[in-house]
Amino acid sequence: MHKRDLQDGDLLDNRLATLCEKNLEMLSSGEQKFASECLSHFWRAIAYGLEGGKRLRGRLVMATSQAVFGVKTFKGLPKTMQTLILDASMAIECVHAFSLVHDDLPIMDDDKLRRGKNTLHVEYDEGVALLAGDALQTLGTEILSSSDVLKLRRFRLIRELSLATGARGMAGGQMIDIKAVQEKLSEIEIKNMHRLKTGALLTAAVRMGFFGVNKKKDECKLSGLMAFISNLGLAFQVVDDILDATGKEILLGKTVGRDIKLMKPNFVQVCGVEKSRAFAEKSLEAALSSIENYGAEGNNLRDLAISLVRRQK
Ligand code: IPE
Ligand code: IPE
Ligand code: MG
Ligand code: MG
Ligand code: MG
Repeated sequence: MHKRDLQDGDLLDNRLATLCEKNLEMLSSGEQKFASECLSHFWRAIAYGLEGGKRLRGRLVMATSQAVFGVKTFKGLPKTMQTLILDASMAIECVHAFSLVHDDLPIMDDDKLRRGKNTLHVEYDEGVALLAGDALQTLGTEILSSSDVLKLRRFRLIRELSLATGARGMAGGQMIDIKAVQEKLSEIEIKNMHRLKTGALLTAAVRMGFFGVNKKKDECKLSGLMAFISNLGLAFQVVDDILDATGKEILLGKTVGRDIKLMKPNFVQVCGVEKSRAFAEKSLEAALSSIENYGAEGNNLRDLAISLVRRQK
């Protein structure tokens, strides 16, 4: 992995941790001891849900914005845009963290391990996990609406993130996922589920990066970027299915073999490991060819695409 990606991910990690610390600090001076203690506990749970993770969606927002704006690094963007894009990256990581916290609940995938630690409901309890998920989702919107600078762009990004999170996006895909237990889905149906439950947020990351910085003359770039992320979004969940079947728990930081155990149909069960690997590689090739007209300013996007598909965790 390239150093510049790590720096973008570290920047995001620091910002997210600081956000939770600030909220905790504001509480400690409160007069109501009981409520302060409850809410401190709550903010610690929220911070716990945010910790760890590869920050792929946040880094995708950053990498897309600098590719579209035509600069080689995130720091090459004008300062106001850096702030906007960092906010967008944090927001999408909050929403993603929310989706994982709820996905792990006993009523959904009943997982005990996430990002190498206890899942949130195991570390805290189910009620706290449900509420921390709710809070993480709205925290995303709160961050994006926290400034009036570039407010029309912020409004657009909130719309993109909301559409991708709800019934026409991630939540819709998760709905199909929970109802698909013990069902025999076709390859096309699995692809559709994957595009929604996982692809929608990844697509939103690219669209947010684009609409955060685009100029009128950049509009022609959107279709190439959409082809790029449509290939990658599906491949990403296919790789998740491969890792669920063949990955190492210690590397992945989550329990393997869950889909079979839960009787959830996935791409590997329908197509087998080899065909799934070949599909992911072909999708990566197609994704990379959709952005070949970018020069060095597209390198972070290319690196991310490769690390999304060839990941071991
Ligand atoms: C896991 O996503 C959930 C899926 C959509 C497959 P990631 O693999 O990006 O999870 P983190 O953020 O790195 O933990
Ligand atoms: C989850 O898919 C997708 C989400 C929207 C959270 P999975 O249920 O396969 O993700 P993991 O394997 O638990 O990370
Ligand atoms: Mg799931
Ligand atoms: Mg799961
Ligand atoms: Mg999985």
